[in-house]
Amino acid sequence: MPTARLSGLNALVIGGSSGIGQTLAEGFQREGARVAIAARTTDKVSRVTERLRESDSSALGYTVDVTERQAIDRLATDVSRDMGTLDILVNCQGTTVIKPATEVSEAEFDQVLDTNLKSVYFTSTVLGGLMLDRGQGAIINIASLAAHRGWPNACAYSISKHGILGLTRTLAAEWAEQGVRVNSISPGFFLTELNRDRMPAERKQAALTRTPYNRFGEVDELVGAALFLASEESGFVTGTDISVDGGYLAGGI
Ligand SMILES: NC(=O)c1ccc[n+]([C@@H]2O[C@H](COP(=O)([O-])OP(=O)(O)OC[C@H]3O[C@@H](n4cnc5c(N)ncnc54)[C@H](OP(=O)(O)O)[C@@H]3O)[C@@H](O)[C@H]2O)c1
Repeated sequence: MPTARLSGLNALVIGGSSGIGQTLAEGFQREGARVAIAARTTDKVSRVTERLRESDSSALGYTVDVTERQAIDRLATDVSRDMGTLDILVNCQGTTVIKPATEVSEAEFDQVLDTNLKSVYFTSTVLGGLMLDRGQGAIINIASLAAHRGWPNACAYSISKHGILGLTRTLAAEWAEQGVRVNSISPGFFLTELNRDRMPAERKQAALTRTPYNRFGEVDELVGAALFLASEESGFVTGTDISVDGGYLAGGI
């Protein structure tokens, strides 16, 4: 029987209480990792942690708002105490504001940038510090098609996701010799709490029209790319982005 691909590794999925993050946490667990999730809403964290514990009683859940700088320090202390070491960090936290750029308030802009970009900088540097101490680890940042294209009516979101690519490349280059790999995944369109009710019908139709597969992705279809980037299979891969998008970025008109 083949060995599980993440056997013996500890993984933390921030934003693991729903949608893509929950699915990645479950996928990592199936491949043998001990998994922890972190997000803001206690009920959601508890529900998903209980579900993970049905397969592995050592699964952990943390209620954290990663836009609070000191909360990230506390998270690192808790993870270090509870797991001992950290091998895999997934930054899957995210939010958006959908409205014309001229109508976005300063508070809305800050909320999107703080959640999607600033928090990723500090979770990576603080929790990544646990990896740098040991000279090994893999960080996976969840970017977006909006990191590669201008995204009308989601300007702050698009700025934040462009920033994720810059952050990923820079930390990858800075930490390569120290054994910590940093990569990103750009999902195409997956219907989750983030967009299911926020995306107007005509936008959903436009997404399908521009996606060569002509369908939304299933969140399980993101697990393979994440497992690759989390495991030694990608031992010489750092600073790159894998798009899992049904061909969106490859397409023309
Ligand atoms: N769905 C798509 O089509 C799609 C496409 C491209 C990229 N993405 C990206 O994929 C990631 C996950 O999105 P999703 O679609 O799975 O949406 P989702 O179901 O809404 O998940 C977002 C997760 O982030 C957590 N979160 C939000 N703000 C947080 C904060 N300040 N501190 C800690 N946790 C926080 C949420 O929990 P709480 O709200 O309880 O904190 C939740 O667990 C995001 O980065 C998103 O931009 C999604």
